[in-house]
Amino acid sequence: MDSIHIQGGVSLQGRVLIQGSKNAALPILAASLLTKETSCIRNCPRIADVYRMVSLLKSLGCEVAWVDGGIRVNPVCVCGGEMPEEAITGMRSSLCLLGAVLGRCGEVVMEHPGGCVIGERPIDLHIDALKKMGVVFEEEGGRLRATAPGGIHGARICLPIASVGATENILLAAALAKGDTLIQGAAREPEVAALCAYLSECGARIEGAGSDRLCVRGSCGRPLDGAQFCIPADRIVAGTYLFGCIATGGNVLLADAPVDQMEAALRVAVRMGSRWERAREGIYVQSPPRPLLPEKLRTSPHPGFPTDMQSMALAAMTKGKGQCLIEETIFEKRFRVVEPLREMGADIETLNSRKVSVRGVSRLVGRDVEAGELRGGAALVLAGLMAEGVTRVYGVKYIDRGYENICRDLRELGARIVSV
Ligand code: EPZ
Repeated sequence: MDSIHIQGGVSLQGRVLIQGSKNAALPILAASLLTKETSCIRNCPRIADVYRMVSLLKSLGCEVAWVDGGIRVNPVCVCGGEMPEEAITGMRSSLCLLGAVLGRCGEVVMEHPGGCVIGERPIDLHIDALKKMGVVFEEEGGRLRATAPGGIHGARICLPIASVGATENILLAAALAKGDTLIQGAAREPEVAALCAYLSECGARIEGAGSDRLCVRGSCGRPLDGAQFCIPADRIVAGTYLFGCIATGGNVLLADAPVDQMEAALRVAVRMGSRWERAREGIYVQSPPRPLLPEKLRTSPHPGFPTDMQSMALAAMTKGKGQCLIEETIFEKRFRVVEPLREMGADIETLNSRKVSVRGVSRLVGRDVEAGELRGGAALVLAGLMAEGVTRVYGVKYIDRGYENICRDLRELGARIVSV
């Protein structure tokens, strides 16, 4: 299946169950290497990035199996840290294996994780922090070899940017280290807190989860215990359908949505004229036929408005009333979706690589459009819901990286959408 066809003009109505969080599941699956016992991690989303992480764990020697809605990992036979090439270059989110394999094996050889269409995606913060913990990095035939000749030891680390991935890698390397690690300027994203919760279930001693100051008391090489853990619902997927409701003037129940992790997005929904309330099952949202545009929208690290929801908010704004200045402060190339939205009739002015101004128009027209990355692809699907006629979104492989089945979910909300 390589395209999604949408017949626009339908308001989303009904209930949709939100899948488990991709960005929580990936580092937690990597963290399961830090124990020699079996872990069972439930509510993992069935998406391409998780499938690839599972095959990576297997390539490192783990026994991994999907069992009644979860993934069982038995890492007792992990042997060495040779990461297969497609591991890193093909998927940024396996970078968290760096800290986990170092923690377990003391060395890892990996390809340089390339940049991607949303930005350069450097790893300098990861490398600088791990060096302070006794890790040595060497180039080896275009690959990166990381070793810890004297073992990994605790350190005091100040992150100049609240990098989610760097925070996660430091936590993973620190859990078994000799001594304590203090991370100042840590990322506060809920996925980092979920990783801390899993590691604590495994016996790691971590203070400050959810804050920007984390302290890890290393186990001095003693492996952690196995654990049972349930992945929280995916706030970005919930936000995708929240903006789908706003875009189409719908009434939607986002079942299982992590409302406490979505305050910034819900504030924007209210500014756009929607009403929401906590329901027993999640979040109930009601939106007007045409949203209002807030004057400004700026992405920032959690608890600010998440960069991963920016494209979906932009799409929902294209047929709203008014004008909005959107500023993307996290990634430098997160406006690729602007061009295809313009082809559909959107009025978006690019001010620079981090700012666009969107002015609401009365109609969008269905077109053949190409997704270039995960969240831009989801945004094009939302635009298709709003457009007259049929929109065909190509590049479904990007969308499949983060959504179990976006067509299934939106069909449950009444959309006329098929994967072809
Ligand atoms: C994580 O990426 C998420 N991915 C991203 O979600 C998310 O957009 C991002 O965090 C920000 O919230 C996963 O969790 C798998 P960062 P990550 O390190 O860790 C700069 C999605 O759609 N930086 O927090 O790669 C970097 O360039 C994906 O699900 C450095 O300069 O993001 C960026 O400007 C997309 N040096 C900023 O920090 C470094 O060493 C934030 O990046 C690392 C990062």
